[in-house]
Amino acid sequence: MSTSIQKQLDLILADTEKMLSSAKTLADIEGVRVKINGRKGSFTVLSKELGKLTKEERPEAGKALNIAKNKISSLLAEAKEKINAESVAPIRVGEGVDVTLPGRKWPVGKKHPITQTIDDCIDIFRRIGFIVAEGPNIETIYHCFDALNTPEDHPSREPSDTFYFADGRLLRTHTSTVQIRVMETQKPPVRIIAPGPAFRPDTPDASHSANFHQVEGLYIDKDVSLADLKSVLLYFAKELLGDDVQIRFRPHYFPFTEPSIEYDFSCTGCNGKGCRICKYSGWLEISGAGMVDPNVLKNVSYNSEVWSGFAWGMGVERIAMIRYGINDIRYFYDNDVRFLRQF
Ligand code: PHE
Repeated sequence: MSTSIQKQLDLILADTEKMLSSAKTLADIEGVRVKINGRKGSFTVLSKELGKLTKEERPEAGKALNIAKNKISSLLAEAKEKINAESVAPIRVGEGVDVTLPGRKWPVGKKHPITQTIDDCIDIFRRIGFIVAEGPNIETIYHCFDALNTPEDHPSREPSDTFYFADGRLLRTHTSTVQIRVMETQKPPVRIIAPGPAFRPDTPDASHSANFHQVEGLYIDKDVSLADLKSVLLYFAKELLGDDVQIRFRPHYFPFTEPSIEYDFSCTGCNGKGCRICKYSGWLEISGAGMVDPNVLKNVSYNSEVWSGFAWGMGVERIAMIRYGINDIRYFYDNDVRFLRQF
């Protein structure tokens, strides 16, 4: 009986070798494996014969089966290795594969236009010595209003203009809070910018969003004047929009600056002639600025007889809309990749 098992094993091995020699793909090899080792495969069927042998015949037959089993596994493994090696071998033109086809592309993401604009602002101000400062988005009333010299009855404190929490804290309505955060922890001189989000309960429309972004700036030193503010903002405008841009100051009021101004950049869409982007005024409103009010300096224990400075804010969305010619702020928050991919 066991001699006949040996014979059958020899046949199975020869058969395996023969089938593998014509296998061209991994799937072919798998086919061979199933024919030999599968549930109804020739080797599997033969192994079941073992149970029919006498006690004396069994050890020898078992040994032969084992040897054959190992041989089959190594034949299958070798065949697989051969095919794998061939598949990475260089393919020559004319072998049925178009080597000029482009490879598979992995889609690469990119920075959101708001992030790009913030990063560009940071780059521009960093070149003239400003460093980035940060403060919390959830703020105290003190940091958002009191320390910034904002009177109790100022309209910006109204619940219709500020998101309040039940515990009396709030979502900062501007990044001017970071002026206070920095001056509380640092001695003058100060030269910082503070980019980040701000929040106001505005109904969304083409130019309003309840969350938006600002870049705040603060410069404190000795003998600082409004002319220094103007030169810093003009420098920024030129770096951002090109040498031809002009800036203008308009008188305004903020509780934390005195004097206060609003500043505009000349419209780069029409070179100041008037167009849709600037609503035919020739000027683009950017934000507010001014000389830091001595009361603010007092609140952070800076000696206002020695130190003076200026501060400004800028609307990041506004700048991004001007740069990229976007006419609706809501596009920034839709997260539609067809929009975001363009920048
Ligand atoms: N915080 C002001 C705003 O959000 C802008 C501003 C910043 C004005 C700094 C003056 C100085 O409108």
